[in-house]
Amino acid sequence: MRFASTVLPLAAAVGLASASDCAPATTKGCQALQNGYLSDSLFTTGSPVYNWETKQFWSNTELMSPGCVFRPKNSRDLGRAVKALVKADAKFAVRGGGHMGIQGSNNIDDGVLIVMSNLTTMALSRDHSVLSLGPAYRWGEVYSYLADYDLTVPGGRLGPVGVPGLLLAGGINFYGNQVGFGCNSVINYEVVLANGDVVQANKQTNSDLFWALKGGSSNFGIVTRFDLETIKSTKVWAGAHTVDAQYVDQFLAAVATYAANISDAKSHIVPALVPSASGGSTLASAILFYDSDTVSYPDILKPFTDIPSISSTVGFKTVAEFANELGQMVVPGINDIFVAGTVKGTTYDQLHKGVSIINSTFFNELPKLLAQVPAANISTIQLDWQPIGAKWMDASNARGGNALGLDSSKVYLCYAEVVEWIGSEYDNIVVDWLKATTEAINKATQAAGIYDEFNYMGDSAGFQSIFPGYGAANHRRLQSIASAYDPTQVFQKLMPGGYKVY
Ligand SMILES: Cc1cc2nc3c(=O)[nH]c(=O)nc-3n(C[C@H](O)[C@H](O)[C@H](O)COP(=O)(O)OP(=O)(O)OC[C@H]3O[C@@H](n4cnc5c(N)ncnc54)[C@H](O)[C@@H]3O)c2cc1C
Ligand SMILES: *[C@@H]1O[C@H](CO)[C@@H](O)[C@H](O)[C@H]1NC(C)=O
Ligand SMILES: *[C@@H]1O[C@H](CO)[C@@H](O)[C@H](O)[C@H]1NC(C)=O
Ligand SMILES: *[C@@H]1O[C@H](CO)[C@@H](O)[C@H](O)[C@H]1NC(C)=O
Ligand SMILES: *[C@@H]1O[C@H](CO)[C@@H](O)[C@H](O)[C@H]1NC(C)=O
Repeated sequence: MRFASTVLPLAAAVGLASASDCAPATTKGCQALQNGYLSDSLFTTGSPVYNWETKQFWSNTELMSPGCVFRPKNSRDLGRAVKALVKADAKFAVRGGGHMGIQGSNNIDDGVLIVMSNLTTMALSRDHSVLSLGPAYRWGEVYSYLADYDLTVPGGRLGPVGVPGLLLAGGINFYGNQVGFGCNSVINYEVVLANGDVVQANKQTNSDLFWALKGGSSNFGIVTRFDLETIKSTKVWAGAHTVDAQYVDQFLAAVATYAANISDAKSHIVPALVPSASGGSTLASAILFYDSDTVSYPDILKPFTDIPSISSTVGFKTVAEFANELGQMVVPGINDIFVAGTVKGTTYDQLHKGVSIINSTFFNELPKLLAQVPAANISTIQLDWQPIGAKWMDASNARGGNALGLDSSKVYLCYAEVVEWIGSEYDNIVVDWLKATTEAINKATQAAGIYDEFNYMGDSAGFQSIFPGYGAANHRRLQSIASAYDPTQVFQKLMPGGYKVY
């Protein structure tokens, strides 16, 4: 999704912006947790743990100044803390891996920042079919642990991304055409509810909550453990295949060819265009994945691999190695934003039209951004696509479905626009440009009859909405489940961050 290799050296030059040094604001939430055993897990402004935890965010745009950090060691303590916060009518935020790049989605000024860092369960069932996983982890750590057992799980494709936010958004993963969204491999959740109770949610117990957590994000409780079905995996054939500007049209045709005919479930792709900010040529690069330790260059990926590459990393490797490789593209300590959108169709022509409209509109608008942000302050700009077809949705449905509301008779091509830059002076310029560009893309795809309201939560910006895109019935069902488990709307009102069902 991010091909920032050309700008990696910038990372060294750019320090993390420091959290504000203003005087400690002792909020009522921080006071409410300042008693008994909970205070062991409470860290006030200026303490080393506070200073460290308040910087563990993907994008500088997420940094804020919480009144204190609460880092529970187990779900029972977290339950007691939630109870105390509700009693004190105090605001809080929850951060897992910190990759939702939206200010206030996972952080808070003055209130309590609850971090998952010490909820570190990671254990296989006796038969190795299920991994119990705490929300402390990033996917790279999970894959490394499982590699020793020749296993993996359907999680993030880039190692640094966090476990909880991804599974609560849905989870686009390498194995999607075989097992569906990552959330569909979760067979049980341990959840702290608004009343402080710690409950299990699975097919038999709290089955409505079990469904709602598959795409419904932070609206129902705080998940303290995910029990995930494992996948056997020794090595896979995978890498990034990058081609020159002269092949962009052939590359975009390959995206449509693949999307119209995802006939081999072992395959997965993330095709992207990477324009140059300094007037150089646009590169096209595809993350290619094939679940086999013997087959290379499979037929299904030929539309891409038949295009001569200027650089390629394809080869046999473990999922852990591949996620680490892709993780190198993450530049820490800069400003980042993702924006999402979707077209849908069933034929090559419709899907190609979708890709083409998105491409043309984006590149028509691009000069307006480059006129306002100097090339030296742009780390990367990307436009990528995520095809989701029948095999993916059927596999999700076979595992009980989810809240996302996708229709398996269609192919969805979800696009993501990515801009990463240096200097908060440019924040508003970038956001305004993306708003206008996304509106232009969606107007054009609407006119062509291929627009879909679905926005993948993991790739969405703060100015976008998610739940209307799940369909009215699923949206209403999520609201009624939220009301049942959290009648006073603690997870909307006291925990305002993230995408809310109402
Ligand atoms: C570089 C990069 C690569 C990505 N790659 C992928 C990918 O391959 N596939 C994909 O599907 N997505 C991908 N994403 C999107 C990703 O799924 C989201 O950013 C997701 O939010 C990351 O989870 P996190 O724990 O790091 O997020 P956080 O920002 O910590 O949390 C996200 C939201 O969930 C809430 N939350 C966190 N933990 C809990 C919990 N335990 N209980 C309840 N609520 C909680 C937070 O309050 C917040 O609102 C990527 C994002 C980035 C930046
Ligand atoms: C909590 O997490 C932090 C950060 O990962 C770690 O340094 C610390 O040792 C952990 N503490 C406990 C009690 O597990
Ligand atoms: C779909 O892809 C498979 C594998 O690449 C190929 O054999 C088949 O001919 C394709 N079908 C169509 C209709 O293009
Ligand atoms: C994509 O956009 C570029 C730049 O505007 C253009 O040259 C190219 O023809 C477009 N390709 C398609 C298939 O839309
Ligand atoms: C632009 O980026 C450079 C590094 O490339 C940085 O030193 C400078 O401070 C940035 N400009 C602004 C206005 O932040």
